Amino acid sequence: ATTASNGVPPASLARKKLMGYVGFANLPNQVHRKSVRKGFTFTCMVVGESGLGKSTLINTLFNTRLYPKKEVPPPSQERSKTVAIESISADIVENGVRLRLTVVDTPGFGDFVNNDDSWKPIVDNIESRFDAYLEQENRVNRAKLVDNRVHACLYFVQPTGHALRPIDIEFMRRLHQKVNLIPVIAKSDTMTDEEIVQFKARILADITHHQIQIFHAPVYENEDEETIAENEEIVRKIPFAVVGSDTEIDTPDGRRVRGRAYPWGVIEVDNEDHCDFVKLRQMLIRSHMEELKEHTHDNLYERYRSEKLVGMGVTQDHSVFKEVNPAAKMAEERALHEAKLQKMENEMKLVFQQKVAEKEAKLKQSEEELYARHREMRDQLDKQRLELEDKKRRLENGRPLTPEKANAYSQGKSRKGFSLRN
Ligand code: GTP
Repeated sequence: ATTASNGVPPASLARKKLMGYVGFANLPNQVHRKSVRKGFTFTCMVVGESGLGKSTLINTLFNTRLYPKKEVPPPSQERSKTVAIESISADIVENGVRLRLTVVDTPGFGDFVNNDDSWKPIVDNIESRFDAYLEQENRVNRAKLVDNRVHACLYFVQPTGHALRPIDIEFMRRLHQKVNLIPVIAKSDTMTDEEIVQFKARILADITHHQIQIFHAPVYENEDEETIAENEEIVRKIPFAVVGSDTEIDTPDGRRVRGRAYPWGVIEVDNEDHCDFVKLRQMLIRSHMEELKEHTHDNLYERYRSEKLVGMGVTQDHSVFKEVNPAAKMAEERALHEAKLQKMENEMKLVFQQKVAEKEAKLKQSEEELYARHREMRDQLDKQRLELEDKKRRLENGRPLTPEKANAYSQGKSRKGFSLRN
């Protein structure tokens, strides 16, 4: 074995020279043949307001009338009030290689007076595709997994020349961790070269400011210089300023090209000096389609999957995911619930005791007050009684004398020589 069971190469890994041809140099060809036999699948989503040239760009990218031109609804016809999700699939073949291409369109995005929740049906759609894949992975027989996940999302920015609008930022913020975002400046033939340079810088500044992750073609160190240079060139062009056209026109110098004719000249979609269409196609189809799919599977889907599983009560045990026994989980939840109830009961008891103590203290206080009042009243009454007795005595002493008393008094006065004062 060349690797230990934990996946780390053993320290004593020997490099051996072959004595002759063995044949494993042919491995890449085996993979190539197998992949060609199986064919390729790719799902691309397009998001942007109506009329920004989404259908035209998809047709231009895949050089086919894959996307039917939609009729613009007459003013009388009522438009849908929500963002709809539509998908079209087609098998396209180039040099014997078959590609099952699915384009997911989002008509209605940004077309309403209130576009607050325009992003929601799109997030729901992307998540339901992740769910469908997860469900297949969890099946007993998962020999043939059908991958309908969205591998790239072309987000069409209006060629305003100003900055990203709130709806652009909101959409990208909501989606950047669920899909490979590729921002493109729609109908860039409506802007001058200088305006495009400034607009791109402003868009990138907004993206950085709002910490939005857009898809960047990764640059690997062990690749040849030419590939590295090409990748760097692609990265420099983001966000791609694109022009779409699925019709061929004649140039003044007699060539037949895909482009748009204006009174002042022809803009060629396949000319790198005219727009970034070629670089977008190169990234999306020629060099990074597998990278987009890999990033979707390894990062975006993986993140969604682990969040979902954790939410469902599945926990990670060091290196392997282990499922929690539902009965044990329920018992654990019940114990937690009971502990919570017990805690609530104790708290209620405490509050009750406090209230009783407060009431008792209040009663005691009012009892004491009553006693004090009672004492006070008794004292007052005693005082009044004494006063009354005193008064009575004085009154009795000051009463007009009965004839007998008066007689005694006068006799006494004349005899003893003193008078009675009241
Ligand atoms: P919906 O189908 O309503 O969602 O619109 P869409 O975004 O798919 O736009 P579509 O491709 O139907 O293009 C709308 C109009 O814009 C058509 O008249 C196209 O010819 C034109 N158009 C498309 N791409 C470009 C472009 O790059 N530059 C210019 N100037 N016009 C374009």
